[in-house]
Amino acid sequence: MCAIDLDGPSFIDEGQGLPLVFVHGFPLSREAWARQVEALSASFRTIAPNLRGFGGHGDVQGKLTMDRLAEDIGSLVETLGCGPVILVGHSMGGYVALAFARRYPQWLRGLVLVGTRAGSDSPEASAGRLAAAEGVREKGIGGIVDAMTQKMLAPGRNDPQSLAEVRSFMSSASREGVIGALLGMAERPDASADLRKISRPTLVVTGAEDRVIDPAESEILAEAIPGARLRIIPGAGHLVAWEEPEAFNRELADWITDIE
Ligand code: MLT
Repeated sequence: MCAIDLDGPSFIDEGQGLPLVFVHGFPLSREAWARQVEALSASFRTIAPNLRGFGGHGDVQGKLTMDRLAEDIGSLVETLGCGPVILVGHSMGGYVALAFARRYPQWLRGLVLVGTRAGSDSPEASAGRLAAAEGVREKGIGGIVDAMTQKMLAPGRNDPQSLAEVRSFMSSASREGVIGALLGMAERPDASADLRKISRPTLVVTGAEDRVIDPAESEILAEAIPGARLRIIPGAGHLVAWEEPEAFNRELADWITDIE
């Protein structure tokens, strides 16, 4: 059975050519990639799924491990018959992309890791996620959406319109999806030892002003993955691809030109 509902509003598939699959972060939706799909679908096939539990998509029961979410992306690639793909993962989507790279190297043409990291949670961070999951169970997703909206963008970019748009990316996450992803992220394995085994071309991108995942984590990724290219985009925060789409899209397209 295909884990991604091909008849539902679960993914965007626009343009033709080399397939780029964009995997969103927590607790976002595929809408966070709208500025990539719009610009890059003129030159590439751009595919942006909603992960299970997010963007109004899919059933969630219990924990959503990064491997489980990677299986969903694997099912999508297999069902569309579009592999090998360039897989672009933002933050939690980057954790999923690393799991995908481990499980499905045959379907990977290249890897783009955006505002993410390889390490697992510290015991404190993991306990914080479990407490947050309990809070969502009792009170719904409002608290998480408020907290994440504040931190997503670079500090200077907190105008009401941008904040409202970012908030809208999160509004269709389900309670079960948010709880499931928090539990899954809390126990995700440390992927650091796998980095040196990645044999596909890799681009690592971060916003210089990321307040959710320290840009230093991107430096660690780029140093560990053989031949990886690192780009730090000035003036951007955690949602770097949405905040600075021209710079991000240019870096992505230039890198693709260099590896193709
Ligand atoms: C995300 O943006 O996907 C999350 O903040 C990642 C995380 O909480 O580790």
